[in-house]
Amino acid sequence: MPEINRVAWIGRALIVGRGGLGTALADELQRRQPALDVMLCGRTLGSADDWLVDLESSQSLEALSQRLLEDPQPLRLVINATGRLHGGSLSPEKRLQQVCTDQLMESFAINAAGPLLLAKAIEPALKRDRHFHFASLSARVGSIGDNRSGGWYAYRGAKAAQNMYLRSLSVEWARRFPLATVTMLHPGTTDTALSKPFQNFVPPDRLFSPQKAASFLLDVLLEQTAEQSGRFLAWDGQEIPW
Ligand SMILES: NC(=O)c1ccc[n+]([C@@H]2O[C@H](COP(=O)([O-])OP(=O)(O)OC[C@H]3O[C@@H](n4cnc5c(N)ncnc54)[C@H](OP(=O)(O)O)[C@@H]3O)[C@@H](O)[C@H]2O)c1
Repeated sequence: MPEINRVAWIGRALIVGRGGLGTALADELQRRQPALDVMLCGRTLGSADDWLVDLESSQSLEALSQRLLEDPQPLRLVINATGRLHGGSLSPEKRLQQVCTDQLMESFAINAAGPLLLAKAIEPALKRDRHFHFASLSARVGSIGDNRSGGWYAYRGAKAAQNMYLRSLSVEWARRFPLATVTMLHPGTTDTALSKPFQNFVPPDRLFSPQKAASFLLDVLLEQTAEQSGRFLAWDGQEIPW
């Protein structure tokens, strides 16, 4: 039986990213663990009580760090549910001639640096003797070993870098915070703004609602233990090759 399903967790949980998956993860986590105080954070306020967090702003990350240090609740779980595939200047490349520096850098800032800088911001609130989960939504297309169709250079490269960063983080935290568990998760293709332009070729039974994906992801995430820290897992619990 998963650790978190055996005992009621008490304390703070942060879901960062107010998009389709982040919102569903926050709702499902709060439903499963009513004693957790689940805070959904993003670049815009949903309600007056929400915390503003922008992973591309060092000021915002410093404010988060400070807020957590002053928080009377023990920090138990943080999930990064931010990410960007298209929009603004970003448009997934189909071939090499569409690659440009600005897109590579923008994708890297949010999809690779973002989760690592989030971990840096929350680290001062961790305790050596407290169980803690840090998870981040990666993507199967960030797998180098599984890459058979090419394209999407900026997004693929940034997600692969995220995986390397968080794997390194799991090694460091295993020494410094032995009860911390770091997990990289692929949600499966999920009906959100991020996947909308690319849903045409997805069979209907493989396009998850955000609620279904959130439920699968929490089943997988909350089964992980500190001894297993640093894994890259799909929504069904299968290990994905790096
Ligand atoms: N949906 C899928 O099929 C799928 C598949 C594989 C992996 N994923 C991964 O799952 C994660 C969540 O995606 P989603 O499907 O829920 O997409 P989504 O609905 O577009 O949500 C992404 C969220 O990230 C937020 N965000 C972007 N930049 C941010 C920043 N600097 N600081 C804070 N928040 C920021 C966006 O906020 P704004 O609205 O303010 O920009 C948006 O709310 C992403 O990492 C994505 O790569 C999704």
